[in-house]
Amino acid sequence: MTRSATLVLFPFLIAGAIALENGLARTPPMGWLSWQRYRCITDCKNRPNDCISEGLYKRMADRLIADGYRDVGYEYVNVDDCWSLLERDNVTGRLVADPARFPNGIAALAEYMHDRGLKLGIYGDAGTKTCGGYPGSEGYFDVDAQTFAEWGVDMLKLDGCYLDTDAMADVYPKMTRALNETGRPILYSCSWPAYLIGKKLDYESIQEHCNIWRNFNDIDDAWTSVKSIIDFYKTNQRTFVQVAKPGAFHDPDMLIIGNFGLSLDQARVQMALWAIFASPLLMSNDLEKIGRAEREILLNRHVIAVNQDSDGIMGSMVEKSGDFEVYSRPVRPNRKPSTSRVFAIMNRVEGGAPSPYTLCASDQLGLSSGRGYYVTDLFANNRLIGVLRPGDNLTVEVNPSGVVLLKATLIDADSEQ
Ligand SMILES: *[C@@H]1O[C@H](CO)[C@@H](O)[C@H](O)[C@H]1NC(C)=O
Ligand SMILES: *[C@@H]1O[C@H](CO)[C@@H](O)[C@H](O)[C@H]1NC(C)=O
Ligand SMILES: *[C@@H]1O[C@H](CO)[C@@H](O)[C@H](O)[C@H]1NC(C)=O
Repeated sequence: MTRSATLVLFPFLIAGAIALENGLARTPPMGWLSWQRYRCITDCKNRPNDCISEGLYKRMADRLIADGYRDVGYEYVNVDDCWSLLERDNVTGRLVADPARFPNGIAALAEYMHDRGLKLGIYGDAGTKTCGGYPGSEGYFDVDAQTFAEWGVDMLKLDGCYLDTDAMADVYPKMTRALNETGRPILYSCSWPAYLIGKKLDYESIQEHCNIWRNFNDIDDAWTSVKSIIDFYKTNQRTFVQVAKPGAFHDPDMLIIGNFGLSLDQARVQMALWAIFASPLLMSNDLEKIGRAEREILLNRHVIAVNQDSDGIMGSMVEKSGDFEVYSRPVRPNRKPSTSRVFAIMNRVEGGAPSPYTLCASDQLGLSSGRGYYVTDLFANNRLIGVLRPGDNLTVEVNPSGVVLLKATLIDADSEQ
């Protein structure tokens, strides 16, 4: 008896000892990340504005400030793959930023961000090489964590190329521990479940060791890509909703709003659903060339407030009718069961005309307070469009491949117990 009890307890104690408790990502992180838009462009001679270089990150940081992104919460400026030399320093074993593209080094880049109230993220890989073929962290977790901490890095995205998929669950926690041992709080973004799509996953362990985690394919600049991610989240919502919480969020990947692949309606769908899912809001776009309408979507304070709601509750699809899907999450004021809620009413028809959808204030939608709800339209500057009491209906027109994002706020919530 004693012997088997010990065997059961022992792994539990080890797992507990390396859990992630860094105090970060209490709400989903917001910022900018180079990958989707800038990939692995390293030819600065011919593509000076597009290449992965300190100039790119500084210019984007300057736009975050000048155009108001920082003020609404976008604070991380994140380097992705292809920033280092192809070999480690052969004396110290450390990663080295390419001196041609990062002449001042990563520490100076971090300082540039910190001086401006921003944060710096960096990229590594848990395997032998990064996806772009640069040195990976396998065998170097402590050295790399220490290097990143000394440079003043605030976030690490750890990819999973060149790593046996069976090893993911053992390897990713090693970096959790290595980061912790540096003493510097570094937000840890894991790609672990993204390499195990369709396999059985231990989300308890993922949530315990990572602040955010990618769990599906890389996003591309296309509506089909955004839809496939939404569908993946919808299919897995029962599992996903249970694991998300302050400090630990699912990451459906970057916001591609402002690039070439989405209409304005589709851009609103991405922003609305990422808010409902309590997802990181990491833009990957050219902030120097972005259009005004796209910028307004990304800067929408009402939508951002939903994403950043301090309860950190992940939403899910609550209703489906014909081409319409309704996604919802509770937000503050949150007094279960008659809590305030946000609804994203998505029209999946492509082409044709806008069509009406009727929302019924029902228990099923969590709208059961007798006092009723004020309903506002978050993409229309939070304009009041009606009051809903139990049994009432509200009809809205939704554009094809578009969304209407409504907030139902409990009436007189402050006086309710
Ligand atoms: C390291 O982990 C301990 C225990 O989980 C926690 O109290 C501490 O804040 C962590 N430190 C960092 C820098 O993450
Ligand atoms: C170390 O790296 C440098 C530059 O990459 C190279 O010239 C040198 O030969 C290497 N030294 C050893 C001992 O491998
Ligand atoms: C709301 O809509 C439902 C279903 O369409 C209908 O049965 C009900 O009578 C409507 N309620 C009101 C108050 O109009």
